[in-house]
Amino acid sequence: MTNVITTPIFYVNGAPHLGHAYSGYLADVYKRFRALVYDESCLLITGTDEHGQKILESAVRSKTDINLFINDKVQAFKTLWPELGVQTDIFVRTTDEQHQNLIQSIWNDLVEKGDIYLGYYQGLYCLGCEQYYTDYELQNNCCPIHKIPVEIRSEETYLFRLDAYRKQLIAFYHRSPDFITPSHYSQDILDYLKQGPLEDLSVSRVNVPWGIKVPNHQEHTIYVWIDALFSYLSALKKAGYDQNALTQTTHIIGKDILKFHAIYWPALLLAAKLPLPKKLLVHGWWTINEQKISKSNPETLISPNELIKKLTSDGLRYALFRQKKIAKDGNITHSDLVEVINADLANNFANLVKRNHTIILKYFSGSIDSKLVNQATLSNQSQLIIKYCEQVINEIFHFYKAFDFYQASLFWKEALDYCNRYFHQRSPWEISKGKSDISVQETCLVTSNLVRLLAIAAYPLIPTLASQVLQELGEDIATCQWQPTCDLKTVRIKETRSHFKRLVKP
Ligand code: MSP
Repeated sequence: MTNVITTPIFYVNGAPHLGHAYSGYLADVYKRFRALVYDESCLLITGTDEHGQKILESAVRSKTDINLFINDKVQAFKTLWPELGVQTDIFVRTTDEQHQNLIQSIWNDLVEKGDIYLGYYQGLYCLGCEQYYTDYELQNNCCPIHKIPVEIRSEETYLFRLDAYRKQLIAFYHRSPDFITPSHYSQDILDYLKQGPLEDLSVSRVNVPWGIKVPNHQEHTIYVWIDALFSYLSALKKAGYDQNALTQTTHIIGKDILKFHAIYWPALLLAAKLPLPKKLLVHGWWTINEQKISKSNPETLISPNELIKKLTSDGLRYALFRQKKIAKDGNITHSDLVEVINADLANNFANLVKRNHTIILKYFSGSIDSKLVNQATLSNQSQLIIKYCEQVINEIFHFYKAFDFYQASLFWKEALDYCNRYFHQRSPWEISKGKSDISVQETCLVTSNLVRLLAIAAYPLIPTLASQVLQELGEDIATCQWQPTCDLKTVRIKETRSHFKRLVKP
């Protein structure tokens, strides 16, 4: 069965921002890595979360009909992904009829089993998060995430018996300590579950007309998070898979939506007798001037579409991975991004390719036969760099597998540093001053082959640039496979280009 990777489905009360783009990039790196290594077409699911009071209020504020309002925002997400080079397969909308039917049928099932019942709830509600908070979770009576005051709400509501699944969840987390990456979150969740009974979860709202109606009780709409979480299942069905595909599914989520995915989602799945997902990959937040990028804070809103015009999509995604560990928060400045991109992609990578290939074209008519260089009698320097790069490629492989794209990019950059040092120390351009052909051929052949290896390894991070470089080397990324070793191949180049222009510093 194929692997599945999901981004969260995004609220449509605003335009996509950089935090959203990051989820897509994470999913895309994973998808491309699996394609490269396992020749597997991993299913990438994304979509939009379109119901609820928050969305309705945004439409009312902008004096736009709700359907026009959401369609416009949905379109922004639909066009975002191809522009970012994120290869999505399924785009699910919570307003899709098929999805709404699925939600109502799961609802009926849970009511029939007695897991959902009609009751009454009073609590402190944050509209930004669309969730209730307990007193001790608040900071100065405000939501810890949105920093806005919570509202006291008391209303008739349907409740889900969350605690009925606590023991099963504890057993699950005991069995699967690596369910959440980074794994310390699994321990935190386990500790939380062990603390004692879980409050029943309020799963319907009255007076929220924009949502999926509770079957046979039209004054109630189904809680947006129930609606949203099961969109993953709707998307699988849309792709022609059944519920078992959940066992192969990795959800990418920000740390603010961990509780929904680590407690509510598995509990609901257990209640509905559905399989649990494979993994949660939790990432931290991007900040600007140390403030979380968020729709509610306009100063932080950078449009990814605009940013890639300046940085290129490869540049942006590479810099985001190189800047911080996935699970940590990280601050963004335009100049930091430009610096990383220029140093690693323009100088260390594209420039090395261009300089090496220019020599091959000028002095060897674009071709160096691997037979001319005997791998066994290579200079020590060449043998060392090849061995070193092979080791690094092996490490990078394991970093990708462990979703550690930060270390993958860091090791890749270090391997490139070494390749550049090797190239400089052996100064093949001195052929013009009489340096021996054989030494220059060795340097250029080894460099080209290492570039091929490193381009393949970097393909998930910088797909366009890596593909172009490989194409110059006569390789088609569509048929390339992960290369763990550097067997020297004959190099044949027709032309060389500047594959990545230095970006202008702001
Ligand atoms: N609709 C819910 C998710 C439902 S999934 C079944 C939601 N939507 S959201 O649009 O508010 O957020 C979507 C994702 O973007 C979340 O994973 C969130 O963590 C992420 N980000 C929002 N702001 C972010 C940053 N500033 N930085 C990184 N990611 C952030 O929650």
